[in-house]
Amino acid sequence: MAKEINTIGVLTSGGDAPGMNAAIRAVVREAIAKGKKVKGIKRGYAGLLQEEIVDMEAKDVSDIIQRGGTILQTARCMEFTTPEGQQKGADICRKHGIDGVIVIGGDGSFKGAQKLASLGINTIGVPGTIDLDISCTDYTIGFDTAVNTAMEAIDKVRDTSTSHERCSIIEVMGRGAGYIALWCGIANGAEDILLPEKYDYDEQKLVNNIIEGRKSGKQHHIIINAEGIGHSASMAKRIEAATGVETRATILGHMQRGGSPTCKDRVYASTMGCMAVDLLCEGKSNRLVAYRGGDYVDYDIDEALAMTKSVPEYQFQICKNLSR
Ligand code: ADP
Ligand code: F6P
Repeated sequence: MAKEINTIGVLTSGGDAPGMNAAIRAVVREAIAKGKKVKGIKRGYAGLLQEEIVDMEAKDVSDIIQRGGTILQTARCMEFTTPEGQQKGADICRKHGIDGVIVIGGDGSFKGAQKLASLGINTIGVPGTIDLDISCTDYTIGFDTAVNTAMEAIDKVRDTSTSHERCSIIEVMGRGAGYIALWCGIANGAEDILLPEKYDYDEQKLVNNIIEGRKSGKQHHIIINAEGIGHSASMAKRIEAATGVETRATILGHMQRGGSPTCKDRVYASTMGCMAVDLLCEGKSNRLVAYRGGDYVDYDIDEALAMTKSVPEYQFQICKNLSR
Protein backbone atom coordinates (compact mmCIF):
# COMPACT_ATOMS: atom_id res chain seq x y z
CA MET A 1 0.00 0.00 0.00
CA ALA A 2 1.27 3.48 -0.87
CA LYS A 3 2.68 5.44 2.05
CA GLU A 4 0.31 8.15 3.27
CA ILE A 5 1.81 11.60 2.94
CA ASN A 6 0.83 14.10 5.60
CA THR A 7 3.81 16.41 5.70
CA ILE A 8 5.82 17.51 2.70
CA GLY A 9 9.31 19.00 2.89
CA VAL A 10 10.62 21.26 0.15
CA LEU A 11 14.20 22.32 -0.56
CA THR A 12 16.22 24.04 -3.28
CA SER A 13 19.70 22.73 -3.99
CA GLY A 14 22.68 23.44 -6.26
CA GLY A 15 22.81 26.68 -8.25
CA ASP A 16 19.77 28.92 -7.80
CA ALA A 17 17.58 29.68 -10.81
CA PRO A 18 14.90 32.30 -11.49
CA GLY A 19 11.52 30.64 -11.01
CA MET A 20 12.55 28.55 -8.01
CA ASN A 21 10.41 30.82 -5.82
CA ALA A 22 7.42 30.26 -8.09
CA ALA A 23 7.97 26.50 -7.68
CA ILE A 24 8.22 26.78 -3.88
CA ARG A 25 5.03 28.83 -3.83
CA ALA A 26 3.25 26.22 -5.92
CA VAL A 27 4.42 23.37 -3.68
CA VAL A 28 3.29 25.14 -0.52
CA ARG A 29 -0.12 26.19 -1.80
CA GLU A 30 -0.96 22.98 -3.69
CA ALA A 31 -0.01 20.93 -0.62
CA ILE A 32 -2.13 23.10 1.68
CA ALA A 33 -5.02 22.87 -0.78
CA LYS A 34 -4.76 19.09 -0.45
CA GLY A 35 -4.82 19.25 3.35
CA LYS A 36 -1.09 18.57 3.82
CA LYS A 37 1.42 20.32 6.06
CA VAL A 38 4.54 21.83 4.51
CA LYS A 39 8.01 22.28 5.95
CA GLY A 40 10.64 24.40 4.23
CA ILE A 41 14.15 23.00 4.45
CA LYS A 42 16.65 25.85 4.23
CA ARG A 43 20.00 25.73 2.34
CA GLY A 44 19.40 22.46 0.49
CA TYR A 45 20.87 19.30 1.94
CA ALA A 46 23.23 21.36 4.13
CA GLY A 47 20.22 22.84 5.93
CA LEU A 48 18.59 19.43 6.20
CA LEU A 49 21.64 18.09 8.03
CA GLN A 50 21.65 21.19 10.27
CA GLU A 51 17.87 20.76 10.89
CA GLU A 52 17.11 24.22 9.49
CA ILE A 53 13.47 23.29 9.01
CA VAL A 54 10.56 25.74 9.22
CA ASP A 55 6.79 25.35 8.99
CA MET A 56 5.36 27.01 5.90
CA GLU A 57 1.91 28.49 5.53
CA ALA A 58 0.24 29.90 2.41
CA LYS A 59 1.10 33.47 3.48
CA ASP A 60 4.81 32.61 3.75
CA VAL A 61 4.97 32.41 -0.03
CA SER A 62 3.11 35.65 -0.71
CA ASP A 63 4.87 38.14 -2.94
CA ILE A 64 7.59 35.77 -4.16
CA ILE A 65 6.39 34.57 -7.58
CA GLN A 66 8.11 37.55 -9.22
CA ARG A 67 11.37 37.31 -7.27
CA GLY A 68 14.59 35.73 -8.51
CA GLY A 69 16.72 33.49 -6.29
CA THR A 70 15.18 31.20 -3.70
CA ILE A 71 13.64 32.23 -0.38
CA LEU A 72 14.76 28.88 1.03
CA GLN A 73 18.37 29.66 0.07
CA THR A 74 20.48 27.00 -1.59
CA ALA A 75 23.79 25.32 -0.98
CA ARG A 76 26.14 22.60 -2.09
CA CYS A 77 26.80 20.01 0.61
CA MET A 78 29.60 17.46 0.50
CA GLU A 79 28.46 15.66 3.65
CA PHE A 80 25.24 14.62 1.94
CA THR A 81 27.19 12.76 -0.74
CA THR A 82 28.32 10.25 1.92
CA PRO A 83 26.18 7.29 3.10
CA GLU A 84 26.42 8.59 6.68
CA GLY A 85 25.18 12.04 5.61
CA GLN A 86 22.30 10.52 3.65
CA GLN A 87 21.24 8.31 6.59
CA LYS A 88 21.40 11.34 8.89
CA GLY A 89 19.22 13.28 6.42
CA ALA A 90 16.60 10.52 6.29
CA ASP A 91 16.58 10.24 10.09
CA ILE A 92 16.11 14.01 10.42
CA CYS A 93 13.15 13.87 7.99
CA ARG A 94 11.55 11.19 10.15
CA LYS A 95 12.27 13.15 13.33
CA HIS A 96 10.43 16.17 11.85
CA GLY A 97 7.54 14.06 10.58
CA ILE A 98 8.45 14.72 6.92
CA ASP A 99 6.99 11.90 4.80
CA GLY A 100 8.07 13.20 1.41
CA VAL A 101 10.56 15.75 0.09
CA ILE A 102 10.35 17.83 -3.07
CA VAL A 103 13.82 18.64 -4.34
CA ILE A 104 14.14 21.59 -6.73
CA GLY A 105 17.55 21.51 -8.40
CA GLY A 106 19.69 19.80 -11.00
CA ASP A 107 21.14 16.34 -11.61
CA GLY A 108 23.39 16.44 -8.53
CA SER A 109 20.43 17.32 -6.32
CA PHE A 110 18.40 14.49 -7.83
CA LYS A 111 21.13 12.00 -6.88
CA GLY A 112 20.53 13.16 -3.32
CA ALA A 113 16.76 12.67 -3.79
CA GLN A 114 17.45 9.16 -5.11
CA LYS A 115 19.40 8.34 -1.95
CA LEU A 116 16.68 9.69 0.37
CA ALA A 117 14.10 7.63 -1.53
CA SER A 118 16.19 4.49 -1.06
CA LEU A 119 16.18 5.21 2.69
CA GLY A 120 12.39 5.35 2.85
CA ILE A 121 11.68 9.08 2.41
CA ASN A 122 9.50 9.61 -0.65
CA THR A 123 11.04 12.12 -3.02
CA ILE A 124 10.07 13.99 -6.17
CA GLY A 125 12.50 16.15 -8.17
CA VAL A 126 11.65 19.36 -9.99
CA PRO A 127 14.17 20.50 -12.63
CA GLY A 128 15.58 23.88 -11.61
CA THR A 129 18.71 25.03 -13.37
CA ILE A 130 19.58 27.74 -15.88
CA ASP A 131 21.77 25.23 -17.74
CA LEU A 132 18.96 23.18 -19.39
CA ASP A 133 21.24 20.18 -18.91
CA ILE A 134 18.77 17.66 -17.47
CA SER A 135 18.37 14.96 -20.10
CA CYS A 136 14.81 13.80 -19.48
CA THR A 137 13.26 17.24 -19.89
CA ASP A 138 13.03 19.82 -22.68
CA TYR A 139 12.64 22.57 -20.08
CA THR A 140 14.30 23.48 -16.81
CA ILE A 141 13.15 26.26 -14.52
CA GLY A 142 15.36 29.34 -14.94
CA PHE A 143 16.62 28.73 -18.46
CA ASP A 144 14.17 31.10 -20.12
CA THR A 145 14.99 33.98 -17.78
CA ALA A 146 18.72 33.34 -18.00
CA VAL A 147 18.84 33.30 -21.80
CA ASN A 148 16.75 36.45 -21.96
CA THR A 149 19.07 38.17 -19.48
CA ALA A 150 22.12 37.03 -21.42
CA MET A 151 20.55 38.03 -24.74
CA GLU A 152 19.88 41.57 -23.51
CA ALA A 153 23.41 41.88 -22.13
CA ILE A 154 24.91 40.63 -25.39
CA ASP A 155 22.86 43.18 -27.37
CA LYS A 156 24.50 45.87 -25.24
CA VAL A 157 27.99 44.52 -25.79
CA ARG A 158 27.23 44.39 -29.49
CA ASP A 159 26.43 48.12 -29.56
CA THR A 160 29.84 49.05 -28.22
CA SER A 161 31.57 46.35 -30.24
CA THR A 162 30.10 47.82 -33.45
CA SER A 163 31.02 51.38 -32.48
CA HIS A 164 34.65 50.39 -31.96
CA GLU A 165 34.66 47.88 -34.83
CA ARG A 166 35.88 45.21 -32.46
CA CYS A 167 35.59 41.51 -32.03
CA SER A 168 33.83 40.59 -28.77
CA ILE A 169 34.05 37.23 -27.09
CA ILE A 170 31.16 36.89 -24.67
CA GLU A 171 31.22 34.01 -22.23
CA VAL A 172 27.90 32.65 -21.00
CA MET A 173 27.15 30.12 -18.25
CA GLY A 174 26.03 26.54 -18.69
CA ARG A 175 28.64 24.44 -16.91
CA GLY A 176 29.41 21.57 -19.35
CA ALA A 177 26.39 22.31 -21.54
CA GLY A 178 26.08 24.71 -24.47
CA TYR A 179 22.33 25.44 -24.46
CA ILE A 180 22.59 29.03 -23.24
CA ALA A 181 25.37 29.68 -25.76
CA LEU A 182 23.37 28.12 -28.60
CA TRP A 183 20.21 30.07 -27.85
CA CYS A 184 22.08 33.35 -27.45
CA GLY A 185 24.05 32.58 -30.57
CA ILE A 186 20.84 32.40 -32.56
CA ALA A 187 18.98 35.17 -30.73
CA ASN A 188 21.89 37.61 -30.88
CA GLY A 189 22.95 36.74 -34.40
CA ALA A 190 26.47 35.85 -33.29
CA GLU A 191 29.11 35.33 -35.93
CA ASP A 192 30.52 32.32 -34.06
CA ILE A 193 29.20 30.07 -31.31
CA LEU A 194 31.51 27.86 -29.30
CA LEU A 195 29.78 24.96 -27.55
CA PRO A 196 31.57 22.41 -25.36
CA GLU A 197 29.66 19.62 -27.13
CA LYS A 198 30.94 20.73 -30.54
CA TYR A 199 34.17 22.63 -30.05
CA ASP A 200 37.09 21.48 -32.19
CA TYR A 201 39.72 23.88 -30.77
CA ASP A 202 40.33 25.20 -34.29
CA GLU A 203 41.09 28.85 -33.51
CA GLN A 204 42.40 29.41 -37.03
CA LYS A 205 38.81 28.94 -38.25
CA LEU A 206 37.71 31.78 -35.96
CA VAL A 207 40.56 33.96 -37.18
CA ASN A 208 39.60 33.28 -40.81
CA ASN A 209 35.94 34.11 -40.09
CA ILE A 210 36.88 37.43 -38.53
CA ILE A 211 39.11 38.37 -41.47
CA GLU A 212 36.41 37.31 -43.94
CA GLY A 213 33.84 39.33 -41.99
CA ARG A 214 36.02 42.42 -42.14
CA LYS A 215 36.45 42.00 -45.88
CA SER A 216 32.68 41.77 -46.34
CA GLY A 217 32.17 44.99 -44.34
CA LYS A 218 31.16 43.61 -40.94
CA GLN A 219 31.70 46.17 -38.19
CA HIS A 220 31.74 43.73 -35.33
CA HIS A 221 32.33 40.06 -34.73
CA ILE A 222 30.45 38.49 -31.85
CA ILE A 223 31.70 35.16 -30.55
CA ILE A 224 29.53 33.50 -27.91
CA ASN A 225 31.76 31.23 -25.88
CA ALA A 226 30.27 28.71 -23.46
CA GLU A 227 31.65 28.51 -19.93
CA GLY A 228 32.48 24.85 -20.54
CA ILE A 229 35.16 26.02 -23.00
CA GLY A 230 36.12 29.13 -21.03
CA HIS A 231 39.49 30.90 -21.32
CA SER A 232 37.82 33.86 -23.06
CA ALA A 233 40.47 36.39 -21.98
CA SER A 234 43.44 34.44 -23.35
CA MET A 235 41.45 33.56 -26.47
CA ALA A 236 40.81 37.29 -27.03
CA LYS A 237 44.55 38.07 -26.83
CA ARG A 238 45.45 35.35 -29.34
CA ILE A 239 42.68 36.39 -31.73
CA GLU A 240 43.66 40.05 -31.59
CA ALA A 241 47.29 39.13 -32.30
CA ALA A 242 46.33 36.89 -35.23
CA THR A 243 43.75 39.20 -36.84
CA GLY A 244 44.87 42.69 -35.92
CA VAL A 245 41.24 43.32 -34.90
CA GLU A 246 40.87 44.73 -31.39
CA THR A 247 39.25 42.01 -29.32
CA ARG A 248 37.64 42.15 -25.88
CA ALA A 249 36.35 39.39 -23.62
CA THR A 250 33.26 39.79 -21.45
CA ILE A 251 32.25 37.15 -18.95
CA LEU A 252 28.58 37.62 -18.11
CA GLY A 253 28.79 35.48 -14.96
CA HIS A 254 26.23 35.31 -12.18
CA MET A 255 24.03 38.12 -13.50
CA GLN A 256 22.56 35.34 -15.67
CA ARG A 257 21.22 33.55 -12.57
CA GLY A 258 19.40 36.53 -11.09
CA GLY A 259 16.41 38.67 -11.87
CA SER A 260 12.67 38.39 -12.00
CA PRO A 261 11.56 35.17 -13.74
CA THR A 262 9.92 35.44 -17.14
CA CYS A 263 6.27 34.52 -17.61
CA LYS A 264 7.35 31.17 -19.05
CA ASP A 265 9.52 30.34 -16.04
CA ARG A 266 6.72 31.30 -13.63
CA VAL A 267 4.11 29.21 -15.41
CA TYR A 268 6.29 26.12 -15.87
CA ALA A 269 7.59 26.37 -12.30
CA SER A 270 4.05 26.70 -10.93
CA THR A 271 2.84 23.73 -12.94
CA MET A 272 5.82 21.55 -12.05
CA GLY A 273 5.62 22.45 -8.36
CA CYS A 274 1.94 21.44 -8.25
CA MET A 275 2.67 18.23 -10.14
CA ALA A 276 5.37 17.28 -7.66
CA VAL A 277 2.87 17.59 -4.80
CA ASP A 278 0.26 15.60 -6.71
CA LEU A 279 2.76 12.80 -7.40
CA LEU A 280 3.74 12.61 -3.72
CA CYS A 281 0.08 12.52 -2.72
CA GLU A 282 -0.45 9.61 -5.14
CA GLY A 283 2.23 7.75 -3.19
CA LYS A 284 4.89 8.10 -5.91
CA SER A 285 8.56 8.35 -4.99
CA ASN A 286 11.95 8.61 -6.69
CA ARG A 287 10.41 10.45 -9.65
CA LEU A 288 11.24 13.58 -11.58
CA VAL A 289 8.76 16.03 -13.06
CA ALA A 290 9.66 16.84 -16.66
CA TYR A 291 8.35 18.60 -19.76
CA ARG A 292 8.83 16.45 -22.82
CA GLY A 293 7.37 16.63 -26.31
CA GLY A 294 4.81 19.25 -25.29
CA ASP A 295 3.53 17.47 -22.18
CA TYR A 296 4.23 17.52 -18.47
CA VAL A 297 5.33 14.00 -17.54
CA ASP A 298 7.30 12.22 -14.83
CA TYR A 299 10.19 9.79 -14.91
CA ASP A 300 11.82 7.39 -12.52
CA ILE A 301 14.92 9.23 -11.24
CA ASP A 302 17.24 6.28 -11.96
CA GLU A 303 16.03 6.16 -15.56
CA ALA A 304 16.13 9.94 -15.90
CA LEU A 305 19.72 10.15 -14.70
CA ALA A 306 20.77 7.47 -17.17
CA MET A 307 19.31 9.41 -20.13
CA THR A 308 21.45 11.57 -22.39
CA LYS A 309 20.59 14.49 -24.64
CA SER A 310 22.57 16.55 -27.08
CA VAL A 311 22.37 20.06 -28.46
CA PRO A 312 20.14 20.13 -31.55
CA GLU A 313 22.37 19.69 -34.58
CA TYR A 314 20.03 21.56 -36.93
CA GLN A 315 20.00 24.70 -34.79
CA PHE A 316 23.77 24.55 -34.46
CA GLN A 317 24.17 24.26 -38.24
CA ILE A 318 21.79 27.10 -39.16
CA CYS A 319 23.79 29.57 -37.05
CA LYS A 320 26.54 29.57 -39.66
CA ASN A 321 24.16 30.64 -42.46
CA LEU A 322 22.31 33.16 -40.32
CA SER A 323 25.39 35.13 -39.34
CA ARG A 324 26.90 35.64 -42.78
P1 ADP B 1 22.89 20.54 -9.29
O1 ADP B 1 21.79 19.96 -8.47
O2 ADP B 1 22.57 21.90 -9.80
O3 ADP B 1 23.40 19.59 -10.34
P2 ADP B 1 25.26 19.98 -7.69
O4 ADP B 1 25.84 18.98 -8.65
O5 ADP B 1 26.19 20.97 -7.09
O6 ADP B 1 24.10 20.85 -8.31
O7 ADP B 1 24.56 19.14 -6.54
C1 ADP B 1 23.86 19.79 -5.50
C2 ADP B 1 23.98 19.00 -4.23
O8 ADP B 1 23.36 17.72 -4.40
C3 ADP B 1 25.39 18.65 -3.80
O9 ADP B 1 26.04 19.70 -3.12
C4 ADP B 1 25.14 17.50 -2.86
O10 ADP B 1 24.70 17.94 -1.61
C5 ADP B 1 23.99 16.78 -3.57
N1 ADP B 1 24.54 15.68 -4.35
C6 ADP B 1 25.26 15.75 -5.49
N2 ADP B 1 25.66 14.53 -5.90
C7 ADP B 1 25.20 13.66 -4.98
C8 ADP B 1 25.29 12.24 -4.83
N3 ADP B 1 25.96 11.47 -5.70
N4 ADP B 1 24.69 11.69 -3.75
C9 ADP B 1 24.02 12.46 -2.87
N5 ADP B 1 23.91 13.79 -2.94
C10 ADP B 1 24.48 14.39 -3.99
O1 F6P C 1 24.38 25.27 -12.67
C1 F6P C 1 24.20 26.65 -12.75
C2 F6P C 1 25.52 27.36 -12.83
O2 F6P C 1 25.29 28.76 -12.88
C3 F6P C 1 26.41 26.93 -13.99
O3 F6P C 1 26.02 27.51 -15.21
C4 F6P C 1 27.76 27.36 -13.49
O4 F6P C 1 28.77 26.54 -14.04
C5 F6P C 1 27.68 27.15 -12.01
O5 F6P C 1 26.31 27.10 -11.68
C6 F6P C 1 28.35 28.23 -11.21
O6 F6P C 1 28.30 27.89 -9.88
P1 F6P C 1 28.72 28.87 -8.69
O7 F6P C 1 27.53 29.69 -8.36
O8 F6P C 1 29.08 27.94 -7.59
O9 F6P C 1 29.84 29.72 -9.17
